[in-house]
Amino acid sequence: MKVTLHDGTILEVSEGETLYEVLTRSGIYLTASCGGKGVCGKCRVKVLDGEFDCRGYAKLTKAEIDAGIVLACQTVPRTDLRIEIPQESRLTVGDRIALSRTKDLAGILQDYGASVSPLIRRTTLQLPPPSLDDNLSDLERIKRSLDEEGITLRYPRRFFEDLAQHLRRHQWGVNLCWQPDNRDALFIEPLSSEKRYGLAVDVGTTTVVVYLVDLDTGEVIDTGSTYNSQMRYGDDVITRIINATEGGLLRELRKAVIEDVNDLLEVMLKRHGLDRRKVESVSIAGNTTMSHLFWGLDPEFIRLDPYIPTINLFPVWYAREAGLRTNPDAPVFTLPCVASYVGGDIVAGVLATGIHRRHELSLFMDIGTNGEIVIGNRDWLVTAACSAGPCFEGSGIKCGMRATEGAIEGVRIDPVTLEPELKVIGDTRPMGICGSGMIDAVAEMFLKGVVDQKGRLQDTPNNARVREGEDGLEYLFYGEDNREVVLTQVDLDNLIRAKGAIFAGISLLLKEVGLDLNSIEKVYIAGGFGNYIDVRKAIVLGMLPDLPEERFQFVGNTSVAGAYLCLLSEDMRREAETVASMMTYIELSMKPNYMDEFMSALFLPHTDLGLFPTVRGLLQEMSKNS
Ligand code: FES
Repeated sequence: MKVTLHDGTILEVSEGETLYEVLTRSGIYLTASCGGKGVCGKCRVKVLDGEFDCRGYAKLTKAEIDAGIVLACQTVPRTDLRIEIPQESRLTVGDRIALSRTKDLAGILQDYGASVSPLIRRTTLQLPPPSLDDNLSDLERIKRSLDEEGITLRYPRRFFEDLAQHLRRHQWGVNLCWQPDNRDALFIEPLSSEKRYGLAVDVGTTTVVVYLVDLDTGEVIDTGSTYNSQMRYGDDVITRIINATEGGLLRELRKAVIEDVNDLLEVMLKRHGLDRRKVESVSIAGNTTMSHLFWGLDPEFIRLDPYIPTINLFPVWYAREAGLRTNPDAPVFTLPCVASYVGGDIVAGVLATGIHRRHELSLFMDIGTNGEIVIGNRDWLVTAACSAGPCFEGSGIKCGMRATEGAIEGVRIDPVTLEPELKVIGDTRPMGICGSGMIDAVAEMFLKGVVDQKGRLQDTPNNARVREGEDGLEYLFYGEDNREVVLTQVDLDNLIRAKGAIFAGISLLLKEVGLDLNSIEKVYIAGGFGNYIDVRKAIVLGMLPDLPEERFQFVGNTSVAGAYLCLLSEDMRREAETVASMMTYIELSMKPNYMDEFMSALFLPHTDLGLFPTVRGLLQEMSKNS
């Protein structure tokens, strides 16, 4: 049997395979928030022709089913099929979320006064050739020379594989490359001044970002990003842990993300005509689960009380062990994690923003698939993870999507007609709504009275946009040509819970250290998505603290920035370890007053309007004008 795509591509189908499996196997990825369990309703495709068996139609409307829409993960072809994949179902790389670049990385290194010292040291050896009088073995000859420089190394077996040939081919003049942390001798290279490269990798839950870096100059030669292919095993870390453990898919999850890095690397190597052996070191930053999955470590106990990871401080391991297609002997540095839900990506963020070096009190937030926060300064750092969930990335929201073409990213609602004005990425027909659009939309809906303080949609006669839908009340942003984009009451409840979790986390952390919101002098918002948030709207929502706008700074992808710093500098690698040990992790759910904080934050913007004087002012103005 076969499946023919709208563009003519033909894919073979094996017995019993779902459409989702056929497409994934062929490298065509669909949004699959629930990992193919048939509950998220995101993996929609349209069957144009042919017969099939369908196990479920979750979240599809009758009109959609009548129009031939099915869930790919629930559909098994019975005959040859012809299908069309709607744009919003496809996973496409969104540069806007992945490649928001933290400026001037080499500048950070300079400002910190950190020396450039990659994960590999090169020591030049000019060995006297052996003779009958000087008949030391090759290894003893190397050791004698290194002893003179006071260098003692360990020699793993693989070091010897080509040693004899290499030494003779290069007439006993070589560079010996070794790893300073574990003092492993790695390989020898000719004395030429060939360039060497490294990879800084952000292993995000949603995206994988890779920087190819010149290890001598620190220049970022190329960058690449893609969605983390583990997405096919679920959007969030918990679903992936369950799939890795109960589902027995640990190897598959590991392979998926390693292949993502390899694929990105392949393209960059081709583009620059480089030999993979010249990529000599790697530095990765990811949350604790991603770091475990990257190394194929059992993540089971990350999610079980008392939430203990296998490892926080990773030793330097090697590319061959990871399966990376760089030089197989390239050492891989993994940014240290703090706890099960605060990982190396957050340590990287602190390192890159430098909040641990300054006197001023800073709040660092990474609002991505998870919501992690750090508060502190050069004397102390506290951190927590808010269980915000990935709804700002479109998951669990009926028409939610990532910030790619067709996503509503901005909303204005006319105060008189209550008609929305939409800003759509790519200026095309709206296909869904992304995180920044959701924040904009809910804030506007609140200010214009479309929802009340509890986020309840108001079904008033003057607002035709609010209507009864399949899941209760919903607000219609767009409805033309058989396409509708709505926010349902269920979506609103999810969004308010997510923003509530973030704000409750900030409040509680501050209370833990006896401070209040006004003591925060600087707020750093990391994560690609953060760059597009309208701060004022996020304050109206009650997601961000009501502070002057100039205190907020968007810092882009600080995870890859931290990985970059550690790739290039031993000082930075040591500093990352210091940052991780400085960070006191607070398990919010164990705090008796967490629930109170959370419940208070389930209002727009909050039950205590005194915490949001700007919003109170806006509301007073609105009521005067109405
Ligand atoms: S319904 Fe198919 S992936 Fe979620």
